[in-house]
Amino acid sequence: MTGHLTRPSGGLLPRLAQFRAQPPGMRGAFARAVFDYLDPEGSVERLLGRLVPAANDEEVRDAVREGVSDPEISRVLGLQPQTPGLLSAREMVFIHALVLLARPAVVVETGVAHGSSSVAILSALRKIGSGRLYSIDLPMVEREGTIESPEGACDVGREETTLVAAYDRVGWLIPEALRDRWELHLGDSLRVLPDLLSRLDQVDLFLHDSLHRYAHMRGEFEIVWPRLSDGGILLADDIFVFHHAAIADFARSAGVRFRTYFGMGVMQKPGRRKTGDGRGEKGT
Ligand SMILES: C[S@@+](CC[C@H](N)C(=O)[O-])C[C@H]1O[C@@H](n2cnc3c(N)ncnc32)[C@H](O)[C@@H]1O
Repeated sequence: MTGHLTRPSGGLLPRLAQFRAQPPGMRGAFARAVFDYLDPEGSVERLLGRLVPAANDEEVRDAVREGVSDPEISRVLGLQPQTPGLLSAREMVFIHALVLLARPAVVVETGVAHGSSSVAILSALRKIGSGRLYSIDLPMVEREGTIESPEGACDVGREETTLVAAYDRVGWLIPEALRDRWELHLGDSLRVLPDLLSRLDQVDLFLHDSLHRYAHMRGEFEIVWPRLSDGGILLADDIFVFHHAAIADFARSAGVRFRTYFGMGVMQKPGRRKTGDGRGEKGT
């Protein structure tokens, strides 16, 4: 059914080798990711069911199918592997399905680059006919160093700039037809977020995919968490890449558990919230 999700990508053995590099607080989560490789479809369906308990099994399966057959997602995936840095099929399908089921009014993401995560979110927002995506990325720069932006100076390293420097604009993958629900803010996310969030009532879904260093991830989580709606969801991509425990430490301090889907971390604010169609949902 969801053939995209079963494509081999990276394999199990390299992942097991990375296990030893994880700090103790992350090893359990890393080990559980093995089950995602064994059963990608079951994993995504179980996770979506936990995050959106008001959705029944059939609705969850339909939402996943929607992502697999979404023309915009297929277009983006067709650019792999010659476009490095795109989200994987399973990540795009997961995010797309989550938006379809949770129906967030306000989505905020940090780290746009080509815009594959933005496409997954915006395509789902168009389907539900509501909601808005606020994205933050650095202004395009051609070399590492200190850049000046309206929000102030920001140090960027090579790995943070190469993705966008090769293309003509941040979010170049996002088609015109999806841009009416999109607002792009350029600058260091730790500087832009407080001001942006002060203008928004609340955040229903947050995706971290900017700088994956400990202090930066933790900093974004600290800013966003108090502004997440009850039952709101925080996603963080690449939580295992830099071998630190930012998400585990933050989850402990916030008193919640974090779940994972492959390399993505997921935290949900406790409480109930109303979805766009008025369904009450219970946070875990
Ligand atoms: C992994 S890419 C994002 C990929 C994107 N989510 C996608 O699906 O195509 C990381 C992005 O984070 C941005 N970034 C790095 N440091 C940042 C910072 N301090 N504030 C905002 N964005 C940052 C980089 O410019 C880069 O475009």
